[in-house]
Amino acid sequence: MKQVLVTGGAGYIGSHTIVSLVEQGFYPIIVDDLRNSSRVILDGLAELTVDRFLFIPIDICDKEALFRVFDDHTFDAIIHFAAYKSVGESCEVPLQYYQNNLIGLMNVLEACSRYSIPKFVFSSSCTVYGEPDQKQVYETTPKRLPESPYGFTKWMGEQIIEDVHRNSVPFQTICLRYFNPIGAHPSGLIGELPVGIPNNLLPYITQTAAGIRSHLTVFGNDYPTPDGTCIRDYVHVNDVADAHVRALLFTSENPLSVFNIGTGKGTSVLEMIQYFNEVSGMDLPYHIGSRRAGDITEIFANVSYSNATLGWRAKRNVKEALNDAWNWEKRQAKSND
Ligand code: UFG
Repeated sequence: MKQVLVTGGAGYIGSHTIVSLVEQGFYPIIVDDLRNSSRVILDGLAELTVDRFLFIPIDICDKEALFRVFDDHTFDAIIHFAAYKSVGESCEVPLQYYQNNLIGLMNVLEACSRYSIPKFVFSSSCTVYGEPDQKQVYETTPKRLPESPYGFTKWMGEQIIEDVHRNSVPFQTICLRYFNPIGAHPSGLIGELPVGIPNNLLPYITQTAAGIRSHLTVFGNDYPTPDGTCIRDYVHVNDVADAHVRALLFTSENPLSVFNIGTGKGTSVLEMIQYFNEVSGMDLPYHIGSRRAGDITEIFANVSYSNATLGWRAKRNVKEALNDAWNWEKRQAKSND
């Protein structure tokens, strides 16, 4: 059975990927220090996978601890999720973002070479496109400077990987540029667990519906879009998880490949509220507020290259994702009672 190291495997996208890996016959070994996750997710994973994974609680920035994991285990691949991910927070504490996200990545890349791991999958983001001229972006769309230190860590992360690959390295790298992952596992056993007040739209919507927040603020309705609100490509987290399995199965002459992981379809903030109301039967309270600094107007993926080359496409639609996210939120509310 192929053994895969999953850094940040207890996080939001990481945990859903663990389930997909186990379903496809891989044995995942998670390294995560749980600073941005919780035992609830590990318990959910244990139930969903019947304990078919190993959890090692370390910080990947601790190079000695990380290398000990490689001394003790053999891996066929590494999927590297472990990173901070809040755009707003990264503006307040940029050094923490650069330290954690870049040192973690460099340690893992060094381990890849030193321990001759054949395959490396990197969590990248559509943030590397900045505010693009064409709203639908291809992998070949020129990168632009991001708006936040978080964005720069992904932009720099790709640059570091590209530079490492300039010399012949004995491993294949696949960068997956996620658009906006949302939703939860349909079982309701794992999902997104934001620490404190959520920054992202979906957890804010579900927490408002659950009565934890009084109302959602829509950040601006004066954008040049049909209803004036920003447009994003929301993709079910289980589809994002499946893309990682595809990446592990993908072989190429090319040592470095980049794929867009989105649905190819843009949805506005007001449409998201309307769809949420349809799936939940609620009438979500919201106010229109001012624009949020750093938001881009509109971006969505072109996924023809991922479809044709990686053999991946999103199978679930936005309403299914909203339904699964709401199901997860309700289960959380019940367990906190
Ligand atoms: N939004 C609101 N109200 C909220 C939260 C969000 O109106 O309370 C709006 C935002 O203005 C934006 C949309 O909902 O138009 C989506 O916002 P998110 O914060 O959910 O997502 P972003 O598109 O800002 O950020 C996401 C990821 C980042 C990634 C970025 C790249 O969270 O990791 O996409 O564009 F870097």
